[in-house]
Amino acid sequence: MNNIILLGPPGAGKGTQADLICKMCNIPKISTGDMLREAVASGSDLGIKVANILDSGGLVSDDIIGSLIQERLIRPDCNNGSLFDGVPRTIGQAEKLAKMNINFTHVIEIFVEDKIIVNRMSGRRVHPSSGRNYHIEFNPPKNDGLDDETNEPLIQREDDKPETVLKRLSVYHEQTKPLTVFYKNLSDNGHLKFFKVDGSNSVKSVFQEVSSQL
Ligand code: AP5
Repeated sequence: MNNIILLGPPGAGKGTQADLICKMCNIPKISTGDMLREAVASGSDLGIKVANILDSGGLVSDDIIGSLIQERLIRPDCNNGSLFDGVPRTIGQAEKLAKMNINFTHVIEIFVEDKIIVNRMSGRRVHPSSGRNYHIEFNPPKNDGLDDETNEPLIQREDDKPETVLKRLSVYHEQTKPLTVFYKNLSDNGHLKFFKVDGSNSVKSVFQEVSSQL
């Protein structure tokens, strides 16, 4: 069983690699970002509560994230493991996951310099209902502006504006980066395998590196 966490700044390529890893390991992707965007799109109470936080690049509370994960893990597709894409994002969330007795096997940090990220985000295009994402230059869809699988239109995310990306990066350095030390310590004590990959390489070579380590 593989329970894998993908850590890294916004735009590091977590979602892109998550889709490839999930296919390879036959496990579902648990992306709190996708779940929150779906809630916003559906106009649910949760969506109304979190919409402004997402748009401004801040973090949703640890309690909300804890409940989302707990509800998601009950579904039977998680029985053989899961890929946690961009969650946990705070030490508080990591502690909540630890209490859920999830047996994490791997934690992968994808690292990329901030200046590369700001450039990447402006070229990102997303298929809203599946979360599949593309880049107009580095990972283009087969047909301009359309999703490869459904042929539906791609959109630009509201929080990919340069000023919001800078805010998300500063939140990452303050609140999420400390998780690398948290999981490195667990790795040093033999509880899981922690490793880092350079996310500034091509999508293909990042995936080769990840799959050789899993
Ligand atoms: P979320 O959706 O999780 O966003 P994020 O973590 O900021 O990450 P991104 O989706 O922006 O980037 P990514 O690393 O997945 O990169 P991608 O593969 O898309 O969260 C959004 C918001 O929800 C948060 O700001 C927060 O408000 C809230 N939230 C979510 N989870 C939360 C939590 N646990 N706690 C609290 N709040 C939470 O790639 C980016 C672009 O680069 C794409 O265009 C892609 O095609 C391209 N690309 C990918 N890899 C490469 C490569 N190797 N070379 C060149 N281009 C590449």
